[in-house]
Order: sequence, then structure tokens, then C-alpha cells
Amino acid sequence: MRLPGLIDPHVHVRDLNQSHKEDWTTATAAALAGGVTTILAMPNTQPPLVDAASLTLYEKAAKAKAVCDYGIFLGAGLHNAAAIAVEARRGIGLKLYLDATFGDLKLPGLDALVAHFDAWPKDRPIVAHAEEQQTAAVILAAQLAGRGVHICHVARRAEIELIRRVRERGLNVTCEVCPHHLFLIESARPARQFETLARGARAWSGAYAEVRPRLQTQADVDALWANLDVIDCFATDHAPHTMVEKESQTPPPGFPGLETALPLWLTAAHAGLLSLDDIIARMHTGPRRIFNLPEQPETLVEVDLDANWAPVGARQQTRAAWSPFEGWALRGRVTGVTLRGCRVYDGENILVQPGYGHNVVG
Ligand code: DOR
Ligand code: ZN
Ligand code: ZN
Repeated sequence: MRLPGLIDPHVHVRDLNQSHKEDWTTATAAALAGGVTTILAMPNTQPPLVDAASLTLYEKAAKAKAVCDYGIFLGAGLHNAAAIAVEARRGIGLKLYLDATFGDLKLPGLDALVAHFDAWPKDRPIVAHAEEQQTAAVILAAQLAGRGVHICHVARRAEIELIRRVRERGLNVTCEVCPHHLFLIESARPARQFETLARGARAWSGAYAEVRPRLQTQADVDALWANLDVIDCFATDHAPHTMVEKESQTPPPGFPGLETALPLWLTAAHAGLLSLDDIIARMHTGPRRIFNLPEQPETLVEVDLDANWAPVGARQQTRAAWSPFEGWALRGRVTGVTLRGCRVYDGENILVQPGYGHNVVG
């Protein structure tokens, strides 16, 4: 079975001062192993990606090291609205953090929010980490600026129901959800939809389950599934941290996810929870439309829909050698990837050198 090259619009690549967590080679290798041929990288890096100089550093690292295609988000800071808008065409979009999460990019106050919505070009995407009331705030700010906004990792019933209502009014609001918010609940146990499929999910300590937005309740998971039709994209929010960091006194939030996402969706398709067309719409067509991504000619993902397997964190391409889905009984696996006419992954190994990946904005 062949799928188009998949797009993950929400990946934390790290690199530079956090290369021990992940770098452009390991993140993009993990992407290919998960059938993803384009990743969009987040700016809550170290150093943070909030100006022309830091963007140049990450562009250089990506150009030298990436094995799949990519775009790079710019980060909204307290005082950079005008300056960052000048760089808009070098990035894939602007990322706003309205809630505290990993890194220091949380945007305080209303002034900066409005300033970014006013300054950023209307034809370039703005995406937001905006939970609960902040979902409403960011949608209003977008409306007042006469533009659209994309809501990252929707996790709660109230958020998805709000998005449904604003969409019914015709507003240009798009959204993504992550596998962990559809397959796991707050106690870090598998959600109901997957219980019959999960075999021996690893018992984690609470620290491993730390993620932002947090894992929610079964009622939230049920609401996300019930509102699948307003979900434009599946995104991993691949957020690699080492096991030592997760087991420390201050465990950072985030899960690696690139290598398990498509297999989880395929397993869910076997269980009748969604169709293959639903998956392609949210991992290819939807993100391509929202982020104006170019076509990747001669690109395809080979999947064995009937392969039964279980993720082993230590065997992943990502430097985060663990998975929240460790040991799950999955059905459906990536057996090869061809990107721009070149076979880049054979089901086990990456077949191209670092630097094969292209920046999708030129
Ligand atoms: O769990 C998370 N981890 N949520 C975020 O918003 C950031 C991410 C990270 O960068 O580790
Ligand atoms: Zn986030
Ligand atoms: Zn994120």
C-alpha cells in the first residue's frame, strides 16, 4: 500500500545547545521512519528562534543535517513583532506560546498578542499554543486582525467544541490534534478506544506522562473523536527529552512521537475508528493546504498494513530512546520511503546523507 509523503506540522527538532536531546539529523531520520517527508520545526529552541541571527543558525544546521524536507517556524517574543515580521518569508509561519511550556517563549499580556497579529503578513500562517481561555483569546485576536489562525494540539472537549462553533460561523480557524491526546488519558493508561489493542503498555512513573497540554480525561478523548470532522491535521508535537531528564526532579514535558504516529492511526483504522482517507486528509492534504507547502514530486510512503509489531523506544531513530507507546500491539508499519525520486528509507535504515532535505520555503 502506498501513501503520499506525510507532513508533520509540529516537531521540536532542538539541535544547537540542545543537541543531546535531538538534532536535525536524528529528528528528520525519525520522521522518515514514521513516513513523514516534511516536518515543520518549532522555535522554542536554545537559543530561541526569535530573530534573523538565530534563524540563520538553524537554517544552516538544517541545511547541513536534514534527511527530509522541512520548514522552520519563527517565535513570537515580547518585543520582536515588527522585526520578526521582516523575516516572515524565510519561515513557514509564526508560533505564539500563550501558555507556559518547555522553554521561555511564553508571551505575556494582550499588547504583544495584538502587536504580532497586526504585524505578521496576512498571507503567512500564525499557529498558537493556546489552551482553554487562550483558545478564545487567540481566535478573537485573529478576527480583529482580519486573518486566520491555526490552533496547535487541541486536547480538551471545551476547546474542540469552541472551534466547531467558530467554524460553523465561517471563521478561518484550523486545528491539529496529537496521537497522545487521542490514545492516552490523564492516568497515562490507554484510552478506551484502544484498550483492546494495547498489550502491556509500559507502566510509567508520572514523570514520563508530563506533557503540555496535559493528558486529559476520557470525556475529552471521546469529544476529540466525536469532532474528527473539524480536525484538519494530525501533528505529533514530537518533543524529545532524554530518559535521564524525564526521571529527574524536574521532568520536562513532552513525548517523542514521529515513529509511532502513523502506525497508531493505521491501527485505529483497523479498529474501525477512522478510514485511510481520514488519515491522508490529516497527514497530507490538510497540512499542505494550511501551510502552503509545495508538491514533492516522485514521493511516496510504502506501508505494510498488516504488519503486527510493537514499538521499542531504544530502537527508534530519535535520540529520545523511549516511547509512551512502548510495547503496544500495533498493526501497520512503514516499510520504505521515496523522497523526490530517491529511496531514502528501507524500513530499517536511512539511505541518504545528512543534507538531502530541502527547506520548503526555498
Ligand atoms: O509537552 C510539550 N513539550 N509541550 C510543548 O508545548 C513544548 C514541548 C517541548 O518543546 O518539549
Ligand atoms: Zn505547544
Ligand atoms: Zn510543541
